Amino acid sequence: MAKINENYLKLPGNYLFAEIGKRVAKFQAENPDAEIIRLGIGDVTQPLPKVCIDAMTKAALELGDAKTFRGYGPEQGYDFLREKISEWNYKKRGLEISAEEIFISDGSKCDCGNIQEIFSQDSKIAIADPVYPVYLDTNVMAGRTGNLKSDGRFENVIYLPCTAENNFSPAPPTEKVDLIYLCSPNNPTGTTLDKKILSDWVACAKENNSVILYDAAYAAYITEKNIPRSIYEIEGAKDVAIEFRSFSKTAGFTGTRCGYVVIPENLTGTTSSGEKILLKNLWLRRQTTKFNGTAYIVQRGAEAIYSDEGQAQVKKLIDYYMTNAKIIREGLAKIGLTAYGGVNAPYIWLKTPDNMPSWKFFDKLLNEANVVGTPGAGFGPCGENYFRLTSFGSYENTVEAVERIVK
Ligand code: MLT
Repeated sequence: MAKINENYLKLPGNYLFAEIGKRVAKFQAENPDAEIIRLGIGDVTQPLPKVCIDAMTKAALELGDAKTFRGYGPEQGYDFLREKISEWNYKKRGLEISAEEIFISDGSKCDCGNIQEIFSQDSKIAIADPVYPVYLDTNVMAGRTGNLKSDGRFENVIYLPCTAENNFSPAPPTEKVDLIYLCSPNNPTGTTLDKKILSDWVACAKENNSVILYDAAYAAYITEKNIPRSIYEIEGAKDVAIEFRSFSKTAGFTGTRCGYVVIPENLTGTTSSGEKILLKNLWLRRQTTKFNGTAYIVQRGAEAIYSDEGQAQVKKLIDYYMTNAKIIREGLAKIGLTAYGGVNAPYIWLKTPDNMPSWKFFDKLLNEANVVGTPGAGFGPCGENYFRLTSFGSYENTVEAVERIVK
């Protein structure tokens, strides 16, 4: 008899964005004339930078010639891309991260979801609430969380409430944890963690021998100078933190797929007998067994952003989306709605009017304005009465969506 992994049954309902997709498809089928504007899932809409297209075209042609053809690539990623990332994203900013510490992947979602496999089954995890659902759901699937309680929280998870009162910046808990998921700029709240709070987290991780899993997929959207782009800007972070980065939102690769993980050379975890093991080696073992590398064409496309021209094109793309963010923020302010984010991130986190439940607000917006957003409750209990809008739509759709919401 093929028995199933019953941990899957502990997950309440569908994956958040699959559920939204299902509801929107149903609404569209019932209202074929409705011109729906989708500001729900954070999916980019603008074309890839020209430098990427040119590099990918060239790479495709190389694969069409026996002399330059390539089959399986290195599981950790091609040197050309890892070297460029090390130089442009770290060394140029005074951070010592070498190419050997970088692992290329087909996107941060997989990396954030898979990383838990290299840690013990009985690891205690701490996650923000609200949170990008992948961190929690993958730990539920792995059987690390216990059951869902009636308050919408899992038994064995330490939740870090992120509220307007604490500026959506959770402080370290008093209880000892093994794995800490942090995300800055944050999905879903669009807010950031400053140097002081990150230093507190690094100190806490050092004291407890914990590992911080730091999702910086939206780092390219930071506009304020004093906000850390990388956790390695914090002294001592290389001893306690793994960092996730992505080309999805930086350069429009949501469909093309490319991301990477940084696992510092000396970062260790411990066996039950107390022996220290390099996490980098475990991840390499995992990747070489389960992953055959990101497509050569895609890695060449990603590499292309690391030139002056590439950086200028990426900046233009990000400025485009951040203009949308400003339009959304200002539009919501005009009608007296309280909103956060949208300054260092492509997400706007708004308080629903009169504390309306967030799925109810979702239905209202879909029915009355034909605009799709993401209900805050889908990100965790503290997301109730909040709603997320993304600035990844086209400029025209964003303006139109805001006009409809205002109306
Ligand atoms: C989101 O909308 O939260 C993101 O698009 C999800 C993702 O990057 O996987």
